[in-house]
Amino acid sequence: MTIEPFERSTDPWHEVEQHVGHYGAPYFAPDIIDRAEGSYIYTEDGRKILDFTSGQMCATLGHNNPEVVQTIRTTIGRLDHLYSGMLSRPSINLCTHIAQTLPEPLNKVIPLSTGSEVNEAAIRMAKTVTGRFEVVSFSRSWHGLTQASAAATYSSARKVGVPCAPGQFAIPTPYEYRPDFTDAEGKLDWRKELDFGFDMVDAQSSGSLAACIVEPILSGGGILVPPDGYLAELKKKCHERGMLLIFDEAQTGFGRTGTWYGFQHDGVVPDILTLSKTLGGGLPLAALVTSDEIEATARERGFTFYTSHVNDPLVAAVGCTVMNVIERDDLPSKAAQKGDRLHAGLQRLVETHDIVGDARGRGLLQGIEIVKDKQGKERSAALGDLITRRCYELGLHMNIVCLPGMGGVFRIAPPLTVSDAELDDGLTILDQAISDVETGRYRD
Ligand SMILES: Cc1ncc(COP(=O)(O)O)c(C=O)c1O
Repeated sequence: MTIEPFERSTDPWHEVEQHVGHYGAPYFAPDIIDRAEGSYIYTEDGRKILDFTSGQMCATLGHNNPEVVQTIRTTIGRLDHLYSGMLSRPSINLCTHIAQTLPEPLNKVIPLSTGSEVNEAAIRMAKTVTGRFEVVSFSRSWHGLTQASAAATYSSARKVGVPCAPGQFAIPTPYEYRPDFTDAEGKLDWRKELDFGFDMVDAQSSGSLAACIVEPILSGGGILVPPDGYLAELKKKCHERGMLLIFDEAQTGFGRTGTWYGFQHDGVVPDILTLSKTLGGGLPLAALVTSDEIEATARERGFTFYTSHVNDPLVAAVGCTVMNVIERDDLPSKAAQKGDRLHAGLQRLVETHDIVGDARGRGLLQGIEIVKDKQGKERSAALGDLITRRCYELGLHMNIVCLPGMGGVFRIAPPLTVSDAELDDGLTILDQAISDVETGRYRD
């Protein structure tokens, strides 16, 4: 029996129930998605939905960007996949181009496949180079679901009763809307918080601190932008302890926040940089970047990350095209401008709705926080879920952070190619959905 990829059966949800496994989040029933183009996805029954999450934050240039499609068409007939020890022009050119967009000393690039995997490689490299094993990350972090990346992830999937890697420490996440450490005016005192975090790390460490891994803006943690000066101080604390600083730019890399890389806003260069989601424009492509020195030491000490798809040419070619389009069309500056427009619209929602407590973010990585009311600031996952559902009915796909204790924060990350009109349409739908839920016109 053959089944064609797009063949339609009468009751796909029966097949889903019978054969499609669950992996941690409910399926977006009842629709089956048939195609996607630009900022939109289309359901099998012909509904058009504005995608404010770029898929899983990966479709940097919009869905099925014509230049990406063309690259896949021309590459697939010539080079697909190779023995992992072989190199091809697309992978050499990808490494070269990535290195050219980065400041010194970030020179050496290893192309891999996914975000979890590249963080796994980065942590392994840091352990190899330092000869130590302890890893620090934020209490609201998300770095992936493989062994080391999951061990450095505190926001989800930890309480499953299996041991994680030894030597993991969390430091408090700077969260200006809900500060844990405050100054005399009640504002976040991030220095006190960071000092406290590292005091705790020092108290627990067995003297084997290897690395600290953080996102320059936490996305899954709730769109949290560290205050100015925070990342510089974090780097200082790491280096004082002989630790390597890893920035995970799965979501902030390649223009989304208004600069090529998120760390450029703070002028803090990491020891190891991990890039994933946004690099492949929707295909699985990731890259580890580090200095000549760290790469050489890792190599001397036997660093190995030899995978089936390391340096694969097809996805590397796509990465080359994604980068060329970003560069040619100056998408980082456009993301900054469009981000200002989006942020202004979200700020209007804060001003006009009592259940929208905060709007925050940078460039085209923005978030709003849904609360029961502004004064009490109590998070409301239930209202967030209703707004998500209402938006979807009205033609907008919004992603609520579905981590324990975080429900109520929307992540908004449209493609960098989104038009002003699409942004305005999305904001109009969001405004209506919030009003419908706030007034009780739309309820469970
Ligand atoms: C910051 C960050 N790092 C790593 C990952 C893991 O990437 P992947 O799902 O491609 O393994 C994610 C995924 O959401 C992420 O947001």
